[in-house]
Amino acid sequence: MGQETQVDAEMQRLLECAARAAENSYSPYSSFRVGAALRLSNGETVTGTNVENVSYGLTICAERSALVHAVSQFGPKIRVVAVAVANLNHAASPPCGACRQVLAEFAGPDVPVAFPTTDGTRVMNFAEVLPMAFEMKLK
Ligand code: THU
Repeated sequence: MGQETQVDAEMQRLLECAARAAENSYSPYSSFRVGAALRLSNGETVTGTNVENVSYGLTICAERSALVHAVSQFGPKIRVVAVAVANLNHAASPPCGACRQVLAEFAGPDVPVAFPTTDGTRVMNFAEVLPMAFEMKLK
C-alpha cells in the first residue's frame, strides 16, 4: 500500500523508546498512554509523552511533546529523520492531524513514521501521512 516500508531494526528500537516514554504519560482523563520517539539527523533520539490537562483542550500529545523536547535540547535547526509512536493501550494511534502539521516543520517527505494500527505496526512515509501540509510562502 503506497510507500509503506518495513519495521527495520532501527525503527524497532525507536518503537521501544516510544513505548518506554508512554510509561511517563500524564493521562488521568483519558487513560490513553502515548509515547513518541524521534530520531534526529544529529544521531540523537528524543522522546515525549502526552500530558493532559483538566481543561482537556490544553492537552499536549506525545508527538508534539517530543518535538518541543527536541528543539529545547538541540536547538531550532533539528531535522527529524524517523518517527515512532506507541501506546500502552493496545490501540491504534496514528499521529493526530495537529501533530502531523507540527511534524511537517521538521520532517521531510521521505521520513518514515511508524505507529500502531489494529493490524499491527504500520510504517508510512511522512508525505503519505500528511499530504498537502500547510506552507506559508509569501510573495
Ligand atoms: N494523543 C497523543 O498523544 N497523540 C496523538 O496523536 C493523538 C492523541 C493523546 C492526547 C490525549 O492525552 C489522549 O491521547 C487521548 O486523546
